[in-house]
Amino acid sequence: MDKFRIRGGNPIKGRVSISGAKNSALPCMAAAILTPETVTLHNLPYVRDIITMRRLLEDIGAHVLTPELRTHKISAANVELMAAPYELVKTMRASVLALGPLVARFGKARVSLPGGCAIGARPIDLHLAALEKMGAEVFLEAGDVVARSPEDGLVGAEISFDKISVTGTENLMMAATLARGTTTIHNAAREPEVRDLAELLNKMGARVRGAGTPTIQIEGVEGLGGAEHTIIPDRIETGTFIVAAAITKGELEIRDCNPEHCNRIIGKLREVGVEIEEVNQSTLQARCGARGLHASDLMTEPYPAFPTDMQAQFMTLMTQANGRSTITETIFENRFMHASELQRMGARIQVTHDKAIVDGPAKLIGARVQASDLRASASLVLAGLVADGETLIDRVYHIDRGYEKIETKLKEVGADIERVRDSVTAPLSTQPQESL
Ligand code: EPZ
Repeated sequence: MDKFRIRGGNPIKGRVSISGAKNSALPCMAAAILTPETVTLHNLPYVRDIITMRRLLEDIGAHVLTPELRTHKISAANVELMAAPYELVKTMRASVLALGPLVARFGKARVSLPGGCAIGARPIDLHLAALEKMGAEVFLEAGDVVARSPEDGLVGAEISFDKISVTGTENLMMAATLARGTTTIHNAAREPEVRDLAELLNKMGARVRGAGTPTIQIEGVEGLGGAEHTIIPDRIETGTFIVAAAITKGELEIRDCNPEHCNRIIGKLREVGVEIEEVNQSTLQARCGARGLHASDLMTEPYPAFPTDMQAQFMTLMTQANGRSTITETIFENRFMHASELQRMGARIQVTHDKAIVDGPAKLIGARVQASDLRASASLVLAGLVADGETLIDRVYHIDRGYEKIETKLKEVGADIERVRDSVTAPLSTQPQESL
């Protein structure tokens, strides 16, 4: 398994370009299942999860052309297999996004139940209950979820999610586009990625209203057509690079981003002393303020609040801030795995259940550490950038799932980082990994 070797101490300076959002690209790729016509997606990030989703689409019979590295032309005209197999779902739980489209278009689907993962149990009960509300028969068979629509298709319904679920909202939004009648989703996720998917679905001829608000209404149509769409920038990668500039007392120009999607991330980082200037609609300038970093409490919550996917990166930043910060994780039950690795580098963190208390500033010393999930990996990279000496991060395949060539981007802005290839590591496109 590949490793990153980082020698800390260099300020991160220069300009970096943000890639497309993985968590928008995945549902948009799944949406192509809804039509026999070609869906062309631009600005896809070149990351492992996109390759996995492409494999899933090809496995069910869709045809995927990649005229350029970050453009996929997907045609699901000849889908024969309405199934997402275990070996793919265990690699990437977002494979469950094939469920809604398959049932909506073909009346049936078989998707392996995603197991839990490093950050929590992550059930899909809300997805399944909502599909049943739309008339689907849903049952478990040998570890798979099998869903079948009524003979004449899914029926529009009033759906109220007990918990806000991003992929739950996306799955049901896609399923409802071809249902008979109108579906209303209450307590819907409001993430920018949900809005981006709705924009693509409407380009395909769907009638989705209210995406980005807690109530989404979808009027079912007979069929959907092809479309062309450019994926929004990755707000979590944006936040990660802002932290990289601040924690190393450097200065970054962050291009091809969307500051409007990062309001709460920017607001919170400014609160702790990071200077962030919105240069224009797609460019930010970030640096550590002259007064340094100071502690602040944080609670992760669904969008538009501070995202759980930035919690680990924020924790690393707070190890360098003056004072005590209390971080409360409200979305996932086990998302502090990075804390123990940071402690091994000298961070002063106490974790109890859903809270982590961080005392700073703490001098970080390079060490051999292990990544446990995508965003925890990013927090360890950030710690390595500021630690004294050398940090060796193992299992960086986690980070390859969601950050495009992060070591290349960091090297270009001054980081002393290199990828240590493990002789047995398969190239990016084939190595199966546990799901997130
Ligand atoms: C999406 O996961 C993202 N993944 C995650 O990003 C992100 O952390 C998460 O939303 C929260 O923002 C993609 O979009 C591909 P949820 P998702 O359903 O949809 C519980 C990353 O790092 N729940 O919003 O799987 C669930 O256990 C990844 O890029 C149920 O109980 O998350 C969690 O506690 C990590 N039953 C909460 O709801 C369900 O049926 C929110 O989960 C569904 C969810």
